[in-house]
Amino acid sequence: MSRNFIHITDFTTEEIKSTLDLAIEIKKKVKSGTEYLPLKNKTMAMIFAKPSARTRVSFETGMTQLGGHAIFLGPKDIGIGKREAVKDIARVIARYDDIIMARLFDHKHMLELAEYSTVPVINGLTDLNHPCQIMADILTVLEHRKHLDNLKVAFIGDGNNVANSWINLAARLPMHFVLAAPGGYDPDPTILKNAREAGLSKVEIVNDPIVAVKDADVIYTDVWTSMGQEEEKAKRLKAFMPFQVNSELIKHAKDDVYIMHCLPAHRNEEITDEVLESKNSIVFDEAENRMHAQKAIIMKLMEE
Ligand code: CP
Ligand code: NVA
Repeated sequence: MSRNFIHITDFTTEEIKSTLDLAIEIKKKVKSGTEYLPLKNKTMAMIFAKPSARTRVSFETGMTQLGGHAIFLGPKDIGIGKREAVKDIARVIARYDDIIMARLFDHKHMLELAEYSTVPVINGLTDLNHPCQIMADILTVLEHRKHLDNLKVAFIGDGNNVANSWINLAARLPMHFVLAAPGGYDPDPTILKNAREAGLSKVEIVNDPIVAVKDADVIYTDVWTSMGQEEEKAKRLKAFMPFQVNSELIKHAKDDVYIMHCLPAHRNEEITDEVLESKNSIVFDEAENRMHAQKAIIMKLMEE
């Protein structure tokens, strides 16, 4: 059976660490122009049911740089789960291609894709989680801090797919993770329970962003209205406004706190222009690292 990367917790702590090491090694190669083409004649199918900039471009470019090829299948191409059953798509594409990356709405569809595919499946985001993003994020934190000891991450905003993947990471790497969210916007309860039961990290949910950012090494935020929630936008804007990452909030954090955002940002909603463009912001290093982290994830899965 092929290995998949559907949740951060599909990798052990050791596998996460070795994937980060590999990402650093692969990044060095590309920066120094060292030829590294381990995926010659290998093809990735990229299935997108939702829009994307970073995920598509970083995976496609990453495959090219590894000597392989990627095929983009947009929302109108496959109609996964609508035009054709997920389990049929899984078995057909696995007959052509060596690896599948998918961005889907329903997490159950991702699980079904992985169940029926005979080649590795990588989750490029579902309504539940976004594991590739968080591998890139922790790589970025590691590069900037040089270590991951005594890490405190304050996630300000929605307990969404990105927050869920951070909490999954907390089940594998020790950290203090605090989510400041308005009532009713909590993360997935099972993911939260599992992370707490793993006993490695302190995982807190609070209602006050000022409390959350105290002594944090990283302040992280994401959109208040994720893809697929557009009809809730007005309600969400109102609920989340007190959770905006702005200069006033940053005053309560350490001077050298890192500001992170998975992007795309809704500027002056969840984060102000000023903070996003500040010297503390590492959002573009973070975006770049999507590609390096994902190349390492691909190599890990293809090694099996
Ligand atoms: N961060 C992220 O996944 O970006 P895209 O939605 O543009 O792929
Ligand atoms: N939470 C956001 C992340 C986008 C990368 C969404 O799902 O739209």
